[in-house]
Amino acid sequence: MRVFITVFTALLLLSCNSSEEQRTYEAVSSNGSLKLSFNLSEAGQPYYTVSRNNTVVIDTSFLGFDFKNAPAFDKNFIIKNTETETHKETWTMPWGEQLLVDNNYRELRVMLQEKVSPERFLNIVFRVYDDGVGFRYEFPKQSRLKTVEITEEHTQFNLTQDYKTFWIPGDWDIYEHLYSTTKLSEIDAVAYADHVNLAQTYIPENSVNTPVTMVGEDGTHLSFHEAALVDYSGMTLKVDTKNLNLESLLVGSENTNYKVKRTLPFHTPWRTVQITDNAPDLIESNLIVNLNEPNKLGDVSWFKPMKYTGVWWEMHLGKSSWDYGMEMVDGEWKDTGKAHGKHGATTENVKRFIDFSAKNNIKGVLVEGWNTGWERWIGFEDREGVFDFVTTYPDYDLNEVIRYGKEKGVDIIMHHETSAATETYTKQQDTAFALMQHYGIHSVKTGYVGKILPKGEYHHGQYMVNHYNNTVEKAAKYQVAINAHEPIKATGLRRTYPNTISREGLRGQEFNAWAEDGGNPPEHLPIVAFTRMLAGPIDFTPGIFNIKFNEYKSENQVNTTIAQQLALYVVIYSPIQMAADLVEHYEANPEPLQFIKDVGVDWESTEVLNGEVGDYVTIVRKERETGNWFLGSITDENAREIDISFDFLDDGETYTATIYKDGKNAHWDKNPLDLDIETITVNKASKSKFKLAPGGGVAISILKN
Ligand code: NOJ
Ligand code: CA
Repeated sequence: MRVFITVFTALLLLSCNSSEEQRTYEAVSSNGSLKLSFNLSEAGQPYYTVSRNNTVVIDTSFLGFDFKNAPAFDKNFIIKNTETETHKETWTMPWGEQLLVDNNYRELRVMLQEKVSPERFLNIVFRVYDDGVGFRYEFPKQSRLKTVEITEEHTQFNLTQDYKTFWIPGDWDIYEHLYSTTKLSEIDAVAYADHVNLAQTYIPENSVNTPVTMVGEDGTHLSFHEAALVDYSGMTLKVDTKNLNLESLLVGSENTNYKVKRTLPFHTPWRTVQITDNAPDLIESNLIVNLNEPNKLGDVSWFKPMKYTGVWWEMHLGKSSWDYGMEMVDGEWKDTGKAHGKHGATTENVKRFIDFSAKNNIKGVLVEGWNTGWERWIGFEDREGVFDFVTTYPDYDLNEVIRYGKEKGVDIIMHHETSAATETYTKQQDTAFALMQHYGIHSVKTGYVGKILPKGEYHHGQYMVNHYNNTVEKAAKYQVAINAHEPIKATGLRRTYPNTISREGLRGQEFNAWAEDGGNPPEHLPIVAFTRMLAGPIDFTPGIFNIKFNEYKSENQVNTTIAQQLALYVVIYSPIQMAADLVEHYEANPEPLQFIKDVGVDWESTEVLNGEVGDYVTIVRKERETGNWFLGSITDENAREIDISFDFLDDGETYTATIYKDGKNAHWDKNPLDLDIETITVNKASKSKFKLAPGGGVAISILKN
């Protein structure tokens, strides 16, 4: 069957290529390396192919939709018209991995109409970049189709090799899975359906979540994702392991018998494929943000990228708790004398974090567990009306904490754990954000632990996509930036709404504190850098120095060396970076703490010096304003040696480089704290070799002299 389709396509293209007309159905990227071709089959089915340097990367892949309220969009189309456009632009990131972003693509817009009744219209728009393609469907305004209830989108990606694939299951509720590395033909996502660590999870089919990244034997690197996910369901990719075909499988809802409902005109999110011939170029690709609309918020200088500490890790370690021990009496939280004395968010404790942060060039303190309701958090079915986001526990004086922070130049970061009770949160948002505005608090970490309420909705369905996006838009009105946990995936909307500063959407550091499967293995982050990180900023919360924390939990630990914990400040991009460990653990280790004190959070430029998906990666970033550089390199469970040429440095400058590297006996498990610190002078001509221990890394601050 496969062979037949391929031959058939080649014939079709050949025959069309001879005519003038066919040329309009192609778009070639600016450097000529990527070519996208579009056509219709004899039955009038839309399909496309993608080739790179004349090798087919995506073979004949059909496109279409099933609707509940109308006949399918699957065949009988004719091409009414096509348009092509060349686009060249450079735009500025208010904060980000780099200041300036080039957005250069060739666009092919194909206008289709059914040749049989009801003669409806559909446009497909392709954008071809040097490092990948994006396409989306536009449903133009038309008289014979007013609203659509999409039961499934059928976007295919028909691959030509059995790629080595780095994937997480197509869970409709959570992305917090470990990555599997298998051949495409060996993906079995349903095997991950039961998971002990997750408060919610639903994996109905053999599909994967995006970004999913693949490496071919010929060196082709692919990553599939989507851009500008707005008023639509998240897309997973169903895997046909026999035919090496991926096909969109949208996240659904138990409350409707369609997956997406829209009124025309509208367009879908972009379906994206990043295509490069090495792993570093995947990270340097800006395709996802580029496919989003420009900034709609205007001046966002009220938010400043920052490092932060917080009342957080101590709860995950079990040193303190989110809840205070109050009781709900007649619908109100009352202190009935049951306080257990372990509450973490006390005025006094937060002041300790403020003092520490002020001393160490850290501008924010996150406070979790400050508001009433935590007594009815995990494990409760009836969670609506529990949290209100304004009422503090008796031992937390918000006024005083804000006053003290201002005096020390440290901002408080708000926390809203919604417990996935979305109706309560939506109702409370104006009040909650107004409180923040009153106190001059410009960012909030939101959380959606548990099954979504209303029941029957999933975290990644259209209902929740709208909830997350509406929250960001509403927050912007109060000059509030959002860092969502248990979020919808990042799809580059930070370009349009820069107050979408960061998010979780992966197995974060917290799993190392309590996961029953031993936490994140050393290969986790060398995979994340080439998968989840392609989607956008990650609130991973690095910087754990007390790696084994045996005084709290003997069965858990962080599975990296301390040098790798430092390197993560550079490797993982986020405009907010937590120094996640406890104050006492930092105070006991002033030498490595110096790196966290020095490291930047907002970058002029980024270069990925080397890397292989799942093995290792080295990134350098130049800080905006200071012009200082920082390098981070991490490896999986294998030790390795990396050669660094400092030729990325600026001409004519000399720098003091402080190197935080794995000691001779360092090992993520056997000796994670073995760290060597060395200071040297470097310039553009300098070269060095570094040994990375198993689960290790190297972090370098390169400060201008
Ligand atoms: C899960 C989040 O990922 C974590 O960071 C947070 O501490 C808890 N929920 C409580 O909201
Ligand atoms: Ca989480």
